[in-house]
Amino acid sequence: MTEHRTSSLIIAIDGPAAAGKGTLARRIAQDYHFAYLDTGSLYRGVAWCLLSRGVDPENKQQAEECARNFCLDDIEGADIRTRTVGAAASIVAANDGVRAALLDFQRNFAQHPPQNASLRRASASSNMPVKGVVLDGRDIGTVVCPEAPLKLFVTASARTRAHRRWLELVSHNPSLKESDIFADIEARDARDAGRASAPLTQAEDAHLIDTTHLSIDAAFAAVQPLIDALMMR
Ligand code: DC
Repeated sequence: MTEHRTSSLIIAIDGPAAAGKGTLARRIAQDYHFAYLDTGSLYRGVAWCLLSRGVDPENKQQAEECARNFCLDDIEGADIRTRTVGAAASIVAANDGVRAALLDFQRNFAQHPPQNASLRRASASSNMPVKGVVLDGRDIGTVVCPEAPLKLFVTASARTRAHRRWLELVSHNPSLKESDIFADIEARDARDAGRASAPLTQAEDAHLIDTTHLSIDAAFAAVQPLIDALMMR
């Protein structure tokens, strides 16, 4: 097993699709000058690589090979936020070989956060050294960084999450129905939480943040004292 040793503070954020974890993670990264990794973009990237080559995301062997050779630069500028890529990402994420291939990349990022990567990967933009790292995904607190001193499980009702995701996507596709997005969210929740390998689950020591009725400012205010306490150690 990989040794978990790091000199920087790790914040692990998990939760279902469209719960607000990415927005919260970016806010933490910006305000505390932490590096940031959106681990969903890795699974989306693998899915995008397969789809762009006309390969079925259910093709386990090709998906694993794609994950083994994956590099974030490959998807620079690619539109990985679409509904199709999201659904395919959830399929490749249930593939053990893909998860194993992406695990070392994520642990390495957590242990040696880059000092000046682009915002998708890190928020560090000034010359100041990063003070920590925040990763968001589904299994960060349970599998990728179980040693993280601060774990957050960010969730919201499926209706609220579907509404948020629909608002994000409808400007590009005005005919999109909110009911279809709700169905997508329910299918992804079932696949992400029901898979055998590293399913979405709240770590026992994670703090629960329900954003159904919380603004990003309110969610950030709720976690600030937890981060401040760790920074003072
Ligand atoms: O957070 P997102 O919607 O960008 O994630 C896309 C898919 O990737 C999601 O359906 C589940 C998967 N994923 C995962 O299994 N483990 C992670 N750490 C991050 C994402």
